Amino acid sequence: MQHIRQLQTALTILMGALVLLIISGIVLIYSYSPGEQTAVAASTGTAPRADDPGQEATVQPAALDEVAQAGKSLFNNNCTVCHSLGAETLVGPGLKGLNQRRPEAWLISWIKNSQQVIDSGDQYAVTLFNKFNKTPMPAYTDFSDDQIRSILKYIEVAGQ
Ligand code: HEC
Repeated sequence: MQHIRQLQTALTILMGALVLLIISGIVLIYSYSPGEQTAVAASTGTAPRADDPGQEATVQPAALDEVAQAGKSLFNNNCTVCHSLGAETLVGPGLKGLNQRRPEAWLISWIKNSQQVIDSGDQYAVTLFNKFNKTPMPAYTDFSDDQIRSILKYIEVAGQ
């Protein structure tokens, strides 16, 4: 009886070790992502190496002035779900080179209420809307012109 109980205990310990091993394996797999590495690099202040194609250049907070910094939070809180700062298309177009693409007044009207610009018959807006299968962009009617200018500034300095 005694040695059976010992065997049971040994088995339980073995099973426990196995489960721990599997869990740590899963944790390891999930914690390994390139995005995480960039975040670590940014938080420790080590600039990503330009010659490393695996890492995107992150904009260091110190490089942004006050206006661009305000634009950055507005952008991150409202726009990143659909727009990249680069050329990559997410739900909407990548915003790289945006300020060269459209005049500021157009961009302010668009961001405040893109549907209104489309409905006005603006050719660029209608074409873009159709190209994106008429995916509606939310209206940001609460944003002031200056808030939108700060977003545009951030897109300008952070656009890759
Ligand atoms: C739900 C997704 C979504 C969100 C959130 C969103 N957009 Fe858009 N945006 C789009 C889509 C889709 C288009 C393409 C036109 C269309 O279908 O209306 C677009 C187009 C644009 C354009 C025109 C780009 C060009 O190439 O001319 C600008 C500028 C823009 N968005 C800025 C912003 C800004 C700034 C924010 C945040 C304040 C934002 N968008 C939030 C989906 C979104």
